[in-house]
Amino acid sequence: MSKILITGGAGNIGSFITDQCIELGHDVIIADNFYNGKYKNISNHIDSGKALLETIDIGSYEMVRYAFEKHRPEYVSHQASLMILDSDKFPHKAIDTNITGTFNIIQACHEFGIKKLTYGSSASVYGNPRFIPVTEEHPFDNQTLYGATKIAKEALMQSWAYSHNVPYVGFRYFNIYSERQGLGAFYTQVFQKWIHAIYNDQEITMYGDGGQTLDLVHSSDAARANVLALFNDNVKNEHFNVGTGKETSLKEILSLIEKLLGKKASVKYVDSDPHLVRRRCSSIEKIKTQLGFEPVVTVEEGTKKYIDHLIKGKI
Ligand SMILES: NC(=O)c1ccc[n+]([C@@H]2O[C@H](COP(=O)([O-])OP(=O)(O)OC[C@H]3O[C@@H](n4cnc5c(N)ncnc54)[C@H](O)[C@@H]3O)[C@@H](O)[C@H]2O)c1
Repeated sequence: MSKILITGGAGNIGSFITDQCIELGHDVIIADNFYNGKYKNISNHIDSGKALLETIDIGSYEMVRYAFEKHRPEYVSHQASLMILDSDKFPHKAIDTNITGTFNIIQACHEFGIKKLTYGSSASVYGNPRFIPVTEEHPFDNQTLYGATKIAKEALMQSWAYSHNVPYVGFRYFNIYSERQGLGAFYTQVFQKWIHAIYNDQEITMYGDGGQTLDLVHSSDAARANVLALFNDNVKNEHFNVGTGKETSLKEILSLIEKLLGKKASVKYVDSDPHLVRRRCSSIEKIKTQLGFEPVVTVEEGTKKYIDHLIKGKI
């Protein structure tokens, strides 16, 4: 069994990677500063001693090196990042976390001879799609600072993989949602906000006409892509889309939440935000063929889990 360090391990995707690595019998070290992660996402594993926690900021090489030297991980999954809205609000912090932080992780992977590194890039690198479905060959046409940091991450990974032999697999995640997410993911935060508001008979805000589409993947599926890639010796130094290839519009998400809650929403329509791309729809041929990955959780199942979780915590 192996030792795996997961940055952002208390977050939306990272906490599912933690679950799945522990289920497989691996030792897990979670490195998180709780900027957006939640202790309750991982508390069961910390209490049982199945995972260890290092509360560090990846923007500091001193802290990153400390965690690597202390735990000597063999594999690393790097999910820590500032999300899209906070990257706009705090651009220097975004550079610190997403670019310097990523470089710190790559450098430590090199220094400590890590076997494989997986990490989170984003479909934001593509910007507004020029063609659908979006393949990995789609040009980078990003329009946000967040997307710029993801492009920088990819370039850093690629350069260090070749010059310093750090084998990696990067994932261009489309819209990854789960009941464990905090706010900050621009697109998928509608789940949390709308379920909460509709349940409490409050008005919801719809950006634009609701025709914008998302390509929704439950975080447990996105986590499985990471676990598959970590332990597959035949796949390295590649980037893969993580999506479903299916579009779901904001209007469809709203109808699903209404149906599952058995309530009708009162909707306030406002102008669409310039951050919002009109369509998200991935091609997942590459990841299917090379990693044997396909998402299994349907949007209906994922939304139901979300609602059950929020209601259990009394919303
Ligand atoms: N959720 C999505 O739809 C989506 C889409 C595209 C890309 N991504 C990428 O996937 C990765 C994981 O996203 P997520 O949805 O789990 O987000 P998340 O915010 O739930 O998880 C990120 C985690 O990183 C931690 N973190 C932030 N700054 C840190 C720092 N300086 N040092 C240590 N820890 C820090 C947060 O506390 C959090 O636990 C990120 O790289 C994100 O950019 C997510």
